[in-house]
Amino acid sequence: MSHILLVTSSPREADSLSTRFATDIAEGIQARSGGSLSVRDLAANPPPHITSAYIQGRVASPEDRTPEQVEAVEIAQQFIDELKAADVIVIGSGMINFGLPSPLKAWFDHVTWPRVTFGYGDTGPKGLLTGKKVYLVTATGGVFSEGAWAPFDFQTNYLLHLLGFIGLTDVQVVRVEGTVLGPDAVNAAVANAEAAISALLAKAA
Ligand SMILES: Cc1cc2nc3c(=O)[nH]c(=O)nc-3n(C[C@H](O)[C@H](O)[C@H](O)COP(=O)(O)O)c2cc1C
Repeated sequence: MSHILLVTSSPREADSLSTRFATDIAEGIQARSGGSLSVRDLAANPPPHITSAYIQGRVASPEDRTPEQVEAVEIAQQFIDELKAADVIVIGSGMINFGLPSPLKAWFDHVTWPRVTFGYGDTGPKGLLTGKKVYLVTATGGVFSEGAWAPFDFQTNYLLHLLGFIGLTDVQVVRVEGTVLGPDAVNAAVANAEAAISALLAKAA
């Protein structure tokens, strides 16, 4: 039985399309696999920005850490423990100013930890969180999968790079895009996402 970790990050609460469809994927996989599901809502409980205490604390021996460093490192350790415990990770991200929501960036700043989630091998960096399946839902007002705006997608491409850097290379992307282009575009984006999710859940079963 697999354990699923759902990571959501949109500040738009019930209006969020990335949260809606990431939740649909996580719950759909759970229904099919009978596995367990835990939720990390980064918008409701945003991680702090990383601090000097975190940067120094994570390279210090545990017994040498100051109380402030212990607290800072514990936040990162909890996120990493959640990742390690998961067989399947589902992430929802809604574009904010061409990038990812800042709580999701802060989460990556915590979980991207040298010698814990990535190392340096003979041929360069090597991700250490291997063997997990990731579903990434990215929601955007504009269309970025193709066309004139594609070079300005600093969300999906960056997320794929960050995930790969820590070893999460098996990633299935679902885009919900073009939603600022009017009600018909919203309906089409939702229908496309629903069809994509039905297809991937059929394969996951
Ligand atoms: C503060 C803010 C900034 C946004 N910036 C962009 C942007 O730069 N490019 C874009 O295509 N859409 C932008 N959008 C639209 C969102 O990406 C779109 O509404 C998406 O569905 C948000 O994800 P969510 O539905 O999961 O909240 C922005 C929305 C908000 C609220």
